[in-house]
Amino acid sequence: MAILVTGGAGFIGSHTVVELQNAGYEVVVVDNLSNSSEKSLKRVEEITGKPVKFYKADILDKPALEEIFQKESIDSCIHFAGLKAVGESVQKPWEYYHNNITGTLLLLDVMRKHNVKNIVFSSSATVYGSPEVVPVTEECPKGEITNPYGQTKAMLEQVLTDIYKADNEWNVVLLRYFNPIGAHKSGKIGENPNGIPNNLMPYITQVAVGKLEKLGVFGDDYDTPDGTGVRDYIHVVDLAKGHVKAIEKVKENPGLKIYNLGTGIGYSVLDIVKNFEEATGITIPYEIKPRRAGDIATNYADASLAKRELGWTAENGIKEMCQDAWRWQSQNPNGFEE
Ligand code: NAD
Ligand code: WQD
Repeated sequence: MAILVTGGAGFIGSHTVVELQNAGYEVVVVDNLSNSSEKSLKRVEEITGKPVKFYKADILDKPALEEIFQKESIDSCIHFAGLKAVGESVQKPWEYYHNNITGTLLLLDVMRKHNVKNIVFSSSATVYGSPEVVPVTEECPKGEITNPYGQTKAMLEQVLTDIYKADNEWNVVLLRYFNPIGAHKSGKIGENPNGIPNNLMPYITQVAVGKLEKLGVFGDDYDTPDGTGVRDYIHVVDLAKGHVKAIEKVKENPGLKIYNLGTGIGYSVLDIVKNFEEATGITIPYEIKPRRAGDIATNYADASLAKRELGWTAENGIKEMCQDAWRWQSQNPNGFEE
């Protein structure tokens, strides 16, 4: 039996395919490559020494999904496929709702027709909005979400919850990721954003490699120790391992489960700059800019539920996150392009 990994050529997906293969699972990847390269899967094969079965297909293409489910013996799905750029989602809400919501509804329909009722879903700490109390637990109510991307995550959590309520044969694990950064230790796979990065770490690594001149720090007047935004950065390999644990949990028929995946530690933007400089010996020039619309001051996880129930805890610290992000970027200044 195989695990279908949608969006498996992407940043988190490719790292998860490595960990699944290392743990002995059969994996089938479906990805339309809208935000990734098939080369990432070639690199995964180099890392694990195992072939990756890959279908280049869109989850909006229902007949293509049907065909995959007919050909392959799939018993569960890890669903990463989706558009994820917060700012772009404000400009293109229809595209985000269609791709993420319609795509997931079609996937779920094909899954149930083939009696595949196990799903691990990529959700996000963004569903908490601006949390009233940190560290944030899974009990914390969903907050006000300021962009269509985040709305798709909150809506899809609701869709999956209602589907589970209506049919308890489903096992649904909602994983709320905090801020994934870093890369595989081999330097072969990593984050490869199109254009100018929106997220902090890829921006920093592109400054370090000389592609960008300096980092803009979005606001230094937040109510945080140094005034810059505080987040819970998590090494992508730890995050990937969390998915292996979630798949193990699914085998216990747990019903509906929600887990935060974070380290429980908050770092400010300037902490990240300092740690990156210490870990790599490279100076990152920066300037303070105005706050970015929609940003919050502080968010970090209480990840103790995942520890108790999944036996999962993040192993890598900020030093490894910075070193591994830099190894990937310096060895692949243009991502997967030669
Ligand atoms: P990514 O863009 O690298 O990976 C997503 C993959 O899905 C890409 O390879 C893309 O080509 C594919 N895809 C998109 N739409 C598709 C479609 N209609 N059909 C088939 N494939 C499609 O992003 P990522 O950072 O690896 O994120 C993976 C998942 O985790 C996403 O759902 C994202 O929203 C979620 N998430 C990411 C973060 C983060 O900071 N990276 C945080 C929380 C949640
Ligand atoms: C981190 C901090 C910025 C860039 C986003 C999504 C969230 C999830 C993870 C997908 C903030 C500051 C950033 C820069 C900066 N993604 N910053 N200069 O906003 O916490 O979360 O990615 O699901 O949904 O919202 O991550 O990396 O963009 O920002 O100062 O050039 O770095 O203001 O304080 P964020 P981020």
